[in-house]
Amino acid sequence: MEDILPQQSTSWQNMISTARCVFNSFGYHEIILPVAERTEVFTRTLGDSSDIVNKEMYTFEDKKGRSLTLRPEGTASVVRAVIEHGLLSSGNTVKVFYIGPMFRYERPQKGRKRQFYQMGVEFFGARSYYSDCDAVLCMSEICKKLDIPIVIKINTLGCKSCLVKYTEFIKKSLTNKQDDLCKDCATRIKSNILRVFDCKNKNCKNILKDITPIYEMVCDKDKQQFTSFKDVLNKFDVTFVEDRTLVRGLDYYSGIIYEAYIKDYNSDAVSGGGRYNDLVSIMGGPQTPSVGFAIGIDRLIEYKNDSSKKEIDVFLVSLGPSALHKNFELLITLRNLGFSAEMEYEEKSPKSQFRKANSFNAKYVVVRGEDEIKKDIIKIKDMATGHEKEIKENQLKTVLSNKT
Ligand code: HAM
Repeated sequence: MEDILPQQSTSWQNMISTARCVFNSFGYHEIILPVAERTEVFTRTLGDSSDIVNKEMYTFEDKKGRSLTLRPEGTASVVRAVIEHGLLSSGNTVKVFYIGPMFRYERPQKGRKRQFYQMGVEFFGARSYYSDCDAVLCMSEICKKLDIPIVIKINTLGCKSCLVKYTEFIKKSLTNKQDDLCKDCATRIKSNILRVFDCKNKNCKNILKDITPIYEMVCDKDKQQFTSFKDVLNKFDVTFVEDRTLVRGLDYYSGIIYEAYIKDYNSDAVSGGGRYNDLVSIMGGPQTPSVGFAIGIDRLIEYKNDSSKKEIDVFLVSLGPSALHKNFELLITLRNLGFSAEMEYEEKSPKSQFRKANSFNAKYVVVRGEDEIKKDIIKIKDMATGHEKEIKENQLKTVLSNKT
């Protein structure tokens, strides 16, 4: 669980306000929910065999011995709330969005935190494939507005009966291969078998590549819906790829599912979602076809930080008080000429000044000491190539202009 420091909080808030505008323009209204729920809200919905329920929930007893859990995701809480407040009673359409912290006891690593932030939507009464399109277009619009290039992996799990049929099929296909699967997948055969497709184990991947993926076995109606869904995405220039082995890590999905990844950037999904037609009724509400997705804010911020590592044109290193004085004058001249320039304002060792130049990601470093002043030259080092040369101060503008 990490702090969000003042230098990050501005881009954090900008991201949230951009998403808020897009959510509003797509007809979603905000719902603000507690961060803790009764544990069964999650155990009944996310799947007994899901990693979240099995290993990742922060569960504790309150003073009356009731089991509570810090929400690991938003969908189950939203469904609990819309049922509890009777928002679905007239069979109407309800579109809500939420923004807030989620908690999963995962192994912390880049892009994976124990407290992370999601902004997500849930669309109840989502009967036609246009609702799936609406959700994906909303996700895509947010990323576009945030200048985050994504590619969306899409697949369909088919309807409930397709899923039952496929589960039987894959159980049979894997029964005699049980001993070759990893321990986790051997257990998955008995619980949620589809999750074997999520496994990163090489052996399991090898076995699964020969097994007919779910898409090949969904019924014609679902295939037709999937085709119509793709046609709409194409019409609106959404970049997507079909991934016939895509399954989601939560049990409640059926029908069209998707995950968004940042183009040419090695990281986990920045967003995921799909259709969940039975979740509302499983939780005691009316049968309500629904769709939704959630975007992970932390992963977007991480990408922005990585991709916007600041660079400056030049850093000035001064060896001695006269050089410091001359470099300060040069600094101001360079800035007036439109170059980004920095320097150390007090006398420090060359090593510490070069360290500072690196922290600024300087393209060039200019070095000036007593010797250089006597010879009326400056030394300039190209930080990318390591090449160093001596030039006259009035040549600096040309050198910097060639690089910038
Ligand atoms: P999810 O794929 O589990 O889906 O999470 C959605 C997004 O939350 C991920 O794509 C990722 O960006 C972010 N995320 C998940 N775990 C972590 C983590 N440990 N650290 C940082 N970011 C993380 C859901 O949660 C579904 N409720 C989405 C949904 C809404 N489906 C239908 N409606």
